[in-house]
Amino acid sequence: MNDILPDEVVRWQRLEAAFRRHAELQGYAEVRTPIIEQTALFRRQVGETTDIVEKEMYSFERHGDDLTVRPEGTAGAARAYVEHQLAAKEPVSRWYYLGPMFRGERPAKGRYRQFYQAGCELYGDAGPLSDAEIIDLVCGLFRDIGVGEFVVHVNSLGSGGTRDRYRDALLAHFEPRKDKLSDDSQRRLFKNPLRILDSKDPRDREAAAGAPSILDVLDDADRAHWQGLLGYLDALGVPYVADPSLVRGLDYYTRTLFEVKTKAADLGSQNTLCGGGRYDNMIKSLGGPDVPAIGFALGLERLLLSMPDTARKAGPGAVILPLAPEGAKKGLVLARDLRALGVVAELDGRGGKLKTMLARAEKRGAAMCVILGEEVQRGTVAVKDLAARVQDEIPLESAARIIADRLGQPRAVPRPPAQPGDPQTPGPAGEARGPR
Ligand code: HAM
Repeated sequence: MNDILPDEVVRWQRLEAAFRRHAELQGYAEVRTPIIEQTALFRRQVGETTDIVEKEMYSFERHGDDLTVRPEGTAGAARAYVEHQLAAKEPVSRWYYLGPMFRGERPAKGRYRQFYQAGCELYGDAGPLSDAEIIDLVCGLFRDIGVGEFVVHVNSLGSGGTRDRYRDALLAHFEPRKDKLSDDSQRRLFKNPLRILDSKDPRDREAAAGAPSILDVLDDADRAHWQGLLGYLDALGVPYVADPSLVRGLDYYTRTLFEVKTKAADLGSQNTLCGGGRYDNMIKSLGGPDVPAIGFALGLERLLLSMPDTARKAGPGAVILPLAPEGAKKGLVLARDLRALGVVAELDGRGGKLKTMLARAEKRGAAMCVILGEEVQRGTVAVKDLAARVQDEIPLESAARIIADRLGQPRAVPRPPAQPGDPQTPGPAGEARGPR
Protein backbone atom coordinates (compact mmCIF):
# COMPACT_ATOMS: atom_id res chain seq x y z
CA MET A 1 0.00 0.00 0.00
CA ASN A 2 1.48 3.28 -1.06
CA ASP A 3 1.37 6.89 -0.03
CA ILE A 4 0.86 9.17 -2.98
CA LEU A 5 2.48 12.48 -2.21
CA PRO A 6 1.33 15.82 -3.66
CA ASP A 7 4.07 15.93 -6.30
CA GLU A 8 2.87 12.60 -7.72
CA VAL A 9 -0.81 13.39 -7.36
CA VAL A 10 -0.50 15.83 -10.27
CA ARG A 11 0.02 12.93 -12.67
CA TRP A 12 -2.82 10.99 -11.04
CA GLN A 13 -5.18 13.89 -11.51
CA ARG A 14 -4.19 14.25 -15.14
CA LEU A 15 -4.83 10.56 -15.74
CA GLU A 16 -8.13 10.60 -13.86
CA ALA A 17 -9.31 13.68 -15.79
CA ALA A 18 -8.45 12.02 -19.11
CA PHE A 19 -10.29 8.85 -18.07
CA ARG A 20 -13.38 10.81 -17.03
CA ARG A 21 -13.32 12.75 -20.30
CA HIS A 22 -13.14 9.63 -22.46
CA ALA A 23 -15.79 7.81 -20.44
CA GLU A 24 -18.15 10.79 -20.46
CA LEU A 25 -17.70 11.23 -24.23
CA GLN A 26 -19.23 7.75 -24.62
CA GLY A 27 -22.08 8.65 -22.27
CA TYR A 28 -20.81 7.07 -19.03
CA ALA A 29 -21.70 8.72 -15.73
CA GLU A 30 -19.89 8.27 -12.43
CA VAL A 31 -21.16 5.91 -9.75
CA ARG A 32 -19.74 5.69 -6.23
CA THR A 33 -20.36 2.49 -4.32
CA PRO A 34 -19.10 1.47 -0.86
CA ILE A 35 -15.57 0.17 -0.41
CA ILE A 36 -16.91 -2.60 1.82
CA GLU A 37 -19.48 -5.13 0.62
CA GLN A 38 -20.85 -8.42 1.93
CA THR A 39 -18.24 -11.14 1.47
CA ALA A 40 -20.84 -13.39 -0.17
CA LEU A 41 -21.13 -10.93 -3.08
CA PHE A 42 -17.51 -11.49 -4.13
CA ARG A 43 -17.57 -15.20 -3.31
CA ARG A 44 -20.51 -15.75 -5.63
CA GLN A 45 -19.66 -13.33 -8.42
CA VAL A 46 -15.87 -13.33 -8.61
CA GLY A 47 -15.93 -17.09 -7.91
CA GLU A 48 -15.12 -19.48 -5.04
CA THR A 49 -12.15 -21.03 -6.84
CA THR A 50 -10.45 -17.84 -7.98
CA ASP A 51 -7.19 -16.61 -6.44
CA ILE A 52 -8.94 -13.41 -5.43
CA VAL A 53 -11.53 -15.21 -3.30
CA GLU A 54 -9.36 -18.09 -2.11
CA LYS A 55 -6.26 -16.10 -1.16
CA GLU A 56 -6.42 -12.37 -1.58
CA MET A 57 -9.50 -10.80 -0.03
CA TYR A 58 -9.35 -8.69 3.11
CA SER A 59 -12.41 -10.09 4.88
CA PHE A 60 -13.61 -9.61 8.43
CA GLU A 61 -16.62 -10.07 10.60
CA ARG A 62 -18.20 -7.09 12.33
CA HIS A 63 -21.59 -6.57 13.95
CA GLY A 64 -22.68 -9.98 12.71
CA ASP A 65 -21.84 -9.26 9.05
CA ASP A 66 -19.21 -11.01 6.93
CA LEU A 67 -17.60 -8.13 5.10
CA THR A 68 -14.85 -7.68 2.52
CA VAL A 69 -12.90 -4.64 1.45
CA ARG A 70 -13.60 -4.67 -2.27
CA PRO A 71 -11.03 -6.47 -4.43
CA GLU A 72 -12.67 -5.11 -7.60
CA GLY A 73 -15.51 -2.84 -8.65
CA THR A 74 -17.76 -4.86 -10.96
CA ALA A 75 -19.65 -6.88 -8.35
CA GLY A 76 -20.42 -3.85 -6.16
CA ALA A 77 -21.61 -1.79 -9.13
CA ALA A 78 -23.86 -4.66 -10.27
CA ARG A 79 -25.22 -5.02 -6.73
CA ALA A 80 -26.10 -1.31 -6.76
CA TYR A 81 -27.62 -1.59 -10.26
CA VAL A 82 -29.95 -4.35 -9.03
CA GLU A 83 -30.67 -2.76 -5.65
CA HIS A 84 -31.74 0.54 -7.21
CA GLN A 85 -33.71 -1.16 -9.99
CA LEU A 86 -31.94 0.66 -12.78
CA ALA A 87 -33.27 -1.74 -15.39
CA ALA A 88 -36.79 -0.48 -14.75
CA LYS A 89 -35.65 3.14 -15.10
CA GLU A 90 -33.53 3.07 -18.25
CA PRO A 91 -32.90 0.42 -20.90
CA VAL A 92 -29.16 1.04 -21.04
CA SER A 93 -26.98 2.30 -18.18
CA ARG A 94 -23.38 3.36 -18.57
CA TRP A 95 -21.47 3.76 -15.33
CA TYR A 96 -17.86 4.55 -14.50
CA TYR A 97 -15.97 4.55 -11.23
CA LEU A 98 -12.56 5.43 -9.86
CA GLY A 99 -11.16 4.25 -6.59
CA PRO A 100 -9.02 1.98 -4.49
CA MET A 101 -9.29 -1.83 -4.57
CA PHE A 102 -7.62 -4.25 -2.16
CA ARG A 103 -6.02 -7.62 -2.81
CA GLY A 104 -3.51 -9.35 -0.56
CA GLU A 105 -1.16 -10.22 -3.40
CA ARG A 106 2.62 -10.53 -3.27
CA PRO A 107 3.73 -6.94 -3.89
CA ALA A 108 5.93 -6.18 -6.90
CA LYS A 109 6.44 -3.27 -9.25
CA GLY A 110 2.96 -2.61 -10.62
CA ARG A 111 1.29 -5.00 -8.15
CA TYR A 112 0.15 -3.62 -4.84
CA ARG A 113 -2.23 -4.53 -2.04
CA GLN A 114 -4.10 -1.28 -2.30
CA PHE A 115 -4.25 -0.22 -5.93
CA TYR A 116 -6.50 2.09 -7.90
CA GLN A 117 -8.82 1.18 -10.70
CA ALA A 118 -10.80 3.25 -13.15
CA GLY A 119 -13.57 1.18 -14.66
CA CYS A 120 -16.61 1.33 -16.91
CA GLU A 121 -19.66 -0.92 -16.81
CA LEU A 122 -22.35 -0.97 -19.49
CA TYR A 123 -25.67 -2.65 -18.68
CA GLY A 124 -28.44 -3.52 -21.10
CA ASP A 125 -26.72 -4.04 -24.47
CA ALA A 126 -25.89 -7.58 -25.52
CA GLY A 127 -24.44 -6.90 -28.95
CA PRO A 128 -20.81 -7.02 -30.06
CA LEU A 129 -21.05 -3.40 -31.18
CA SER A 130 -20.95 -2.31 -27.54
CA ASP A 131 -18.01 -4.67 -26.91
CA ALA A 132 -16.07 -2.99 -29.72
CA GLU A 133 -16.97 0.52 -28.52
CA ILE A 134 -15.91 -0.13 -24.95
CA ILE A 135 -12.59 -1.60 -26.12
CA ASP A 136 -12.09 1.42 -28.37
CA LEU A 137 -12.75 3.71 -25.39
CA VAL A 138 -9.70 2.23 -23.68
CA CYS A 139 -7.59 2.54 -26.84
CA GLY A 140 -8.61 6.19 -27.32
CA LEU A 141 -7.66 6.97 -23.74
CA PHE A 142 -4.32 5.18 -24.04
CA ARG A 143 -3.44 7.08 -27.21
CA ASP A 144 -4.47 10.36 -25.60
CA ILE A 145 -2.32 9.93 -22.49
CA GLY A 146 0.64 8.62 -24.46
CA VAL A 147 0.81 4.97 -23.37
CA GLY A 148 3.55 3.44 -25.51
CA GLU A 149 2.93 0.46 -27.74
CA PHE A 150 -0.07 -1.54 -26.57
CA VAL A 151 -2.07 -4.45 -27.88
CA VAL A 152 -5.57 -5.72 -27.07
CA HIS A 153 -5.86 -9.47 -26.47
CA VAL A 154 -9.41 -10.69 -27.13
CA ASN A 155 -11.05 -14.03 -26.65
CA SER A 156 -14.53 -15.46 -26.28
CA LEU A 157 -15.52 -17.73 -23.43
CA GLY A 158 -18.87 -18.46 -25.04
CA SER A 159 -22.04 -18.76 -23.05
CA GLY A 160 -24.41 -21.48 -21.71
CA GLY A 161 -23.97 -24.64 -23.77
CA THR A 162 -20.57 -23.66 -25.12
CA ARG A 163 -19.23 -23.30 -21.59
CA ASP A 164 -20.47 -26.76 -20.58
CA ARG A 165 -18.99 -28.37 -23.68
CA TYR A 166 -15.69 -26.60 -23.12
CA ARG A 167 -15.59 -27.65 -19.48
CA ASP A 168 -16.01 -31.28 -20.54
CA ALA A 169 -13.30 -30.93 -23.19
CA LEU A 170 -10.89 -29.42 -20.64
CA LEU A 171 -11.62 -32.13 -18.10
CA ALA A 172 -10.91 -34.77 -20.73
CA HIS A 173 -7.58 -33.05 -21.41
CA PHE A 174 -6.44 -32.45 -17.83
CA GLU A 175 -7.72 -35.55 -16.03
CA PRO A 176 -5.04 -37.88 -17.46
CA ARG A 177 -2.44 -35.25 -16.46
CA LYS A 178 -3.85 -34.63 -12.99
CA ASP A 179 -0.70 -35.73 -11.13
CA LYS A 180 1.41 -33.23 -13.03
CA LEU A 181 -0.74 -30.25 -12.01
CA SER A 182 0.00 -27.81 -9.17
CA ASP A 183 -1.84 -28.40 -5.87
CA ASP A 184 -4.20 -25.50 -6.58
CA SER A 185 -5.08 -26.85 -10.01
CA GLN A 186 -5.59 -30.43 -8.76
CA ARG A 187 -8.04 -29.04 -6.25
CA ARG A 188 -9.79 -26.89 -8.87
CA LEU A 189 -9.83 -29.54 -11.61
CA PHE A 190 -13.39 -30.77 -11.17
CA LYS A 191 -14.87 -27.55 -9.81
CA ASN A 192 -13.48 -25.19 -12.41
CA PRO A 193 -10.97 -26.54 -14.96
CA LEU A 194 -10.92 -23.18 -16.76
CA ARG A 195 -8.90 -21.78 -13.84
CA ILE A 196 -6.00 -24.10 -14.74
CA LEU A 197 -5.56 -22.18 -17.99
CA ASP A 198 -5.05 -18.97 -15.97
CA SER A 199 -2.36 -20.47 -13.72
CA LYS A 200 1.19 -19.12 -13.92
CA ASP A 201 2.64 -22.29 -12.34
CA PRO A 202 5.09 -23.92 -14.80
CA ARG A 203 3.61 -27.38 -14.07
CA ASP A 204 0.16 -26.15 -15.10
CA ARG A 205 1.53 -24.35 -18.14
CA GLU A 206 3.16 -27.54 -19.30
CA ALA A 207 0.02 -29.59 -18.72
CA ALA A 208 -2.03 -26.97 -20.58
CA ALA A 209 0.02 -27.38 -23.77
CA GLY A 210 -2.26 -28.80 -26.43
CA ALA A 211 -5.45 -28.15 -24.39
CA PRO A 212 -8.50 -27.62 -26.63
CA SER A 213 -9.25 -24.05 -27.72
CA ILE A 214 -12.60 -22.60 -26.77
CA LEU A 215 -12.82 -20.90 -30.14
CA ASP A 216 -13.18 -24.38 -31.66
CA VAL A 217 -16.29 -25.21 -29.62
CA LEU A 218 -18.26 -21.93 -29.86
CA ASP A 219 -21.91 -22.50 -30.81
CA ASP A 220 -23.47 -20.55 -33.67
CA ALA A 221 -24.70 -17.61 -31.59
CA ASP A 222 -21.39 -17.28 -29.73
CA ARG A 223 -19.49 -17.51 -33.00
CA ALA A 224 -21.64 -14.82 -34.61
CA HIS A 225 -20.97 -12.54 -31.61
CA TRP A 226 -17.23 -13.25 -31.77
CA GLN A 227 -16.96 -12.66 -35.49
CA GLY A 228 -19.11 -9.56 -35.24
CA LEU A 229 -16.74 -8.19 -32.61
CA LEU A 230 -13.63 -8.84 -34.70
CA GLY A 231 -15.25 -7.11 -37.68
CA TYR A 232 -16.03 -4.01 -35.61
CA LEU A 233 -12.53 -3.95 -34.11
CA ASP A 234 -11.15 -4.06 -37.66
CA ALA A 235 -13.44 -1.19 -38.65
CA LEU A 236 -12.16 0.87 -35.71
CA GLY A 237 -8.51 0.02 -36.38
CA VAL A 238 -8.06 -1.41 -32.87
CA PRO A 239 -4.65 -3.09 -32.51
CA TYR A 240 -5.78 -6.55 -31.37
CA VAL A 241 -4.79 -10.20 -31.39
CA ALA A 242 -7.27 -13.05 -30.99
CA ASP A 243 -5.82 -14.94 -28.03
CA PRO A 244 -7.59 -18.23 -27.20
CA SER A 245 -5.33 -18.68 -24.15
CA LEU A 246 -6.85 -15.62 -22.46
CA VAL A 247 -9.03 -16.73 -19.53
CA ARG A 248 -8.71 -13.99 -16.84
CA GLY A 249 -8.85 -14.50 -13.11
CA LEU A 250 -12.54 -13.89 -12.44
CA ASP A 251 -15.36 -16.36 -12.96
CA TYR A 252 -18.16 -14.06 -14.05
CA TYR A 253 -17.24 -13.68 -17.71
CA THR A 254 -19.27 -14.88 -20.68
CA ARG A 255 -18.42 -14.41 -24.35
CA THR A 256 -16.09 -11.44 -24.92
CA LEU A 257 -12.99 -11.19 -22.78
CA PHE A 258 -10.13 -8.74 -23.26
CA GLU A 259 -6.92 -7.43 -21.79
CA VAL A 260 -4.77 -4.56 -22.93
CA LYS A 261 -1.05 -5.12 -22.53
CA THR A 262 1.82 -2.74 -23.02
CA LYS A 263 5.13 -3.71 -24.52
CA ALA A 264 6.82 -0.41 -23.83
CA ALA A 265 7.02 -0.23 -20.06
CA ASP A 266 9.36 -2.26 -17.94
CA LEU A 267 6.53 -3.91 -16.03
CA GLY A 268 7.42 -7.57 -16.51
CA SER A 269 4.41 -9.77 -15.96
CA GLN A 270 2.50 -6.77 -14.59
CA ASN A 271 2.16 -5.42 -18.14
CA THR A 272 -1.63 -5.86 -18.24
CA LEU A 273 -2.96 -2.32 -18.00
CA CYS A 274 -6.61 -3.17 -18.47
CA GLY A 275 -8.86 -6.19 -18.10
CA GLY A 276 -12.48 -6.59 -18.95
CA GLY A 277 -15.21 -8.56 -20.56
CA ARG A 278 -18.85 -9.44 -20.81
CA TYR A 279 -20.72 -10.84 -17.84
CA ASP A 280 -24.23 -11.45 -19.09
CA ASN A 281 -25.36 -13.60 -16.14
CA MET A 282 -24.39 -11.44 -13.18
CA ILE A 283 -27.40 -9.12 -12.93
CA LYS A 284 -29.79 -12.07 -13.03
CA SER A 285 -27.77 -14.04 -10.52
CA LEU A 286 -28.00 -11.08 -8.13
CA GLY A 287 -31.78 -11.28 -8.25
CA GLY A 288 -32.23 -8.68 -11.00
CA PRO A 289 -33.75 -9.03 -14.46
CA ASP A 290 -31.95 -10.76 -17.32
CA VAL A 291 -29.77 -7.80 -18.31
CA PRO A 292 -26.48 -8.31 -20.20
CA ALA A 293 -23.40 -6.36 -19.16
CA ILE A 294 -19.84 -5.64 -20.20
CA GLY A 295 -17.07 -3.62 -18.60
CA PHE A 296 -13.39 -3.14 -17.93
CA ALA A 297 -11.05 -1.78 -15.30
CA LEU A 298 -7.69 -0.06 -15.72
CA GLY A 299 -4.90 -0.33 -13.18
CA LEU A 300 -3.94 3.29 -12.55
CA GLU A 301 -0.50 2.60 -11.03
CA ARG A 302 0.46 0.52 -14.05
CA LEU A 303 -0.84 3.16 -16.41
CA LEU A 304 1.22 5.82 -14.66
CA LEU A 305 4.30 3.65 -15.07
CA SER A 306 3.53 3.46 -18.80
CA MET A 307 2.82 7.15 -19.36
CA PRO A 308 5.40 9.78 -20.23
CA ASP A 309 6.38 11.76 -17.14
CA THR A 310 5.49 15.27 -18.29
CA ALA A 311 3.05 16.71 -15.78
CA ARG A 312 4.63 18.83 -13.10
CA LYS A 313 3.03 20.30 -10.05
CA ALA A 314 2.39 23.99 -10.75
CA GLY A 315 3.80 26.42 -8.21
CA PRO A 316 1.70 29.21 -6.71
CA GLY A 317 0.70 32.14 -8.88
CA ALA A 318 1.99 34.65 -6.36
CA VAL A 319 4.16 34.51 -3.26
CA ILE A 320 3.74 37.54 -1.05
CA LEU A 321 6.78 38.72 0.84
CA PRO A 322 5.98 41.11 3.69
CA LEU A 323 9.16 43.04 4.56
CA ALA A 324 8.01 46.25 6.22
CA PRO A 325 6.32 46.05 9.64
CA GLU A 326 2.97 46.99 8.12
CA GLY A 327 3.60 44.56 5.23
CA ALA A 328 2.18 41.58 7.13
CA LYS A 329 -1.30 43.04 7.57
CA LYS A 330 -1.43 44.39 4.01
CA GLY A 331 -0.02 41.06 2.76
CA LEU A 332 -2.74 39.07 4.53
CA VAL A 333 -5.43 41.15 2.88
CA LEU A 334 -3.74 41.08 -0.53
CA ALA A 335 -3.37 37.28 -0.37
CA ARG A 336 -7.06 36.95 0.42
CA ASP A 337 -8.01 39.34 -2.41
CA LEU A 338 -5.84 37.41 -4.86
CA ARG A 339 -7.42 34.09 -3.86
CA ALA A 340 -10.87 35.62 -4.32
CA LEU A 341 -9.81 36.29 -7.93
CA GLY A 342 -8.72 32.66 -8.36
CA VAL A 343 -4.97 33.18 -7.92
CA VAL A 344 -3.11 30.60 -5.85
CA ALA A 345 -1.38 32.91 -3.36
CA GLU A 346 1.05 32.00 -0.58
CA LEU A 347 2.20 34.35 2.11
CA ASP A 348 5.79 33.83 3.22
CA GLY A 349 5.87 35.18 6.75
CA ARG A 350 9.11 33.51 7.74
CA GLY A 351 11.13 36.69 7.25
CA GLY A 352 14.81 36.90 6.39
CA LYS A 353 16.73 38.74 3.69
CA LEU A 354 14.82 39.63 0.54
CA LYS A 355 17.28 37.64 -1.55
CA THR A 356 16.61 34.52 0.54
CA MET A 357 12.87 35.04 0.36
CA LEU A 358 12.98 35.43 -3.41
CA ALA A 359 15.08 32.28 -3.68
CA ARG A 360 12.51 30.39 -1.61
CA ALA A 361 9.67 31.63 -3.81
CA GLU A 362 11.55 30.58 -6.90
CA LYS A 363 12.12 27.12 -5.46
CA ARG A 364 8.38 26.82 -4.87
CA GLY A 365 7.92 27.41 -8.58
CA ALA A 366 6.02 30.68 -8.07
CA ALA A 367 5.20 32.75 -11.12
CA MET A 368 5.39 36.07 -9.29
CA CYS A 369 6.55 37.62 -6.05
CA VAL A 370 4.83 40.58 -4.46
CA ILE A 371 7.14 42.54 -2.21
CA LEU A 372 5.61 44.64 0.53
CA GLY A 373 8.58 46.69 1.68
CA GLU A 374 8.91 50.38 2.38
CA GLU A 375 7.00 51.17 -0.85
CA VAL A 376 3.85 50.22 1.10
CA GLN A 377 4.09 53.66 2.74
CA ARG A 378 3.75 55.18 -0.74
CA GLY A 379 0.70 52.98 -1.36
CA THR A 380 2.51 50.67 -3.80
CA VAL A 381 3.97 47.16 -3.93
CA ALA A 382 6.78 45.75 -6.03
CA VAL A 383 5.85 42.86 -8.32
CA LYS A 384 8.54 40.61 -9.70
CA ASP A 385 7.83 38.23 -12.57
CA LEU A 386 10.15 35.35 -11.71
CA ALA A 387 10.20 33.83 -15.19
CA ALA A 388 10.73 37.05 -17.13
CA ARG A 389 12.91 38.50 -14.32
CA VAL A 390 11.35 41.92 -14.56
CA GLN A 391 10.03 44.03 -11.74
CA ASP A 392 7.78 47.03 -11.43
CA GLU A 393 5.78 48.92 -8.85
CA ILE A 394 1.99 48.92 -8.87
CA PRO A 395 -0.62 50.57 -6.64
CA LEU A 396 -1.45 48.42 -3.62
CA GLU A 397 -5.12 49.32 -3.98
CA SER A 398 -5.49 47.63 -7.37
CA ALA A 399 -2.63 45.12 -6.93
CA ALA A 400 -4.84 42.02 -6.74
CA ARG A 401 -6.64 42.82 -10.00
CA ILE A 402 -3.42 43.73 -11.85
CA ILE A 403 -1.61 40.58 -10.69
CA ALA A 404 -4.60 38.37 -11.53
CA ASP A 405 -4.71 39.91 -15.01
CA ARG A 406 -1.00 39.40 -15.52
CA LEU A 407 -1.22 35.78 -14.44
CA GLY A 408 -4.17 35.29 -16.75
CA GLN A 409 -2.10 36.45 -19.72
CA PRO A 410 1.47 36.29 -18.50
CA ARG A 411 3.02 36.88 -21.92
CA ALA A 412 0.86 39.85 -22.82
CA VAL A 413 1.74 41.92 -19.76
CA PRO A 414 3.01 45.35 -20.83
CA ARG A 415 6.31 46.01 -19.16
CA PRO A 416 7.27 49.46 -17.93
CA PRO A 417 10.43 50.85 -19.44
CA ALA A 418 13.55 49.74 -17.61
CA GLN A 419 14.78 52.13 -14.95
CA PRO A 420 18.48 52.60 -14.42
CA GLY A 421 19.60 50.24 -11.67
CA ASP A 422 16.56 47.98 -12.04
CA PRO A 423 17.55 44.30 -12.26
CA GLN A 424 15.69 43.75 -15.53
CA THR A 425 18.32 41.79 -17.35
CA PRO A 426 17.85 38.02 -17.17
CA GLY A 427 20.10 36.38 -14.61
CA PRO A 428 21.43 32.86 -14.68
CA ALA A 429 18.72 30.21 -14.25
CA GLY A 430 17.89 29.57 -10.61
CA GLU A 431 19.61 32.71 -9.33
CA ALA A 432 17.23 35.00 -7.51
CA ARG A 433 18.07 38.62 -8.19
CA GLY A 434 17.03 41.11 -5.59
CA PRO A 435 15.32 44.29 -6.78
CA ARG A 436 17.55 46.61 -4.83
P1 HAM B 1 -8.76 -7.39 -13.15
O1 HAM B 1 -8.09 -7.94 -14.38
O2 HAM B 1 -8.69 -8.21 -11.94
O3 HAM B 1 -10.25 -7.08 -13.56
O4 HAM B 1 -8.15 -5.97 -12.84
C1 HAM B 1 -8.12 -4.95 -13.82
C2 HAM B 1 -6.79 -4.24 -13.81
O5 HAM B 1 -6.49 -3.78 -12.50
C3 HAM B 1 -5.60 -5.13 -14.15
O6 HAM B 1 -5.45 -5.25 -15.55
C4 HAM B 1 -4.45 -4.36 -13.54
O7 HAM B 1 -4.05 -3.31 -14.41
C5 HAM B 1 -5.09 -3.76 -12.30
N1 HAM B 1 -4.73 -4.56 -11.12
C6 HAM B 1 -5.28 -5.71 -10.69
N2 HAM B 1 -4.69 -6.14 -9.56
C7 HAM B 1 -3.74 -5.24 -9.26
C8 HAM B 1 -2.77 -5.10 -8.20
N3 HAM B 1 -2.69 -5.98 -7.20
N4 HAM B 1 -1.94 -4.04 -8.23
C9 HAM B 1 -2.01 -3.12 -9.23
N5 HAM B 1 -2.90 -3.19 -10.23
C10 HAM B 1 -3.75 -4.23 -10.25
C11 HAM B 1 -11.20 -6.58 -12.70
O8 HAM B 1 -10.95 -6.14 -11.62
C12 HAM B 1 -12.56 -6.54 -13.30
N6 HAM B 1 -13.47 -5.98 -12.30
C13 HAM B 1 -12.58 -5.74 -14.58
C14 HAM B 1 -13.95 -5.70 -15.19
C15 HAM B 1 -14.81 -4.66 -15.13
N7 HAM B 1 -14.52 -6.65 -15.87
C16 HAM B 1 -15.74 -6.28 -16.22
N8 HAM B 1 -15.91 -5.06 -15.77
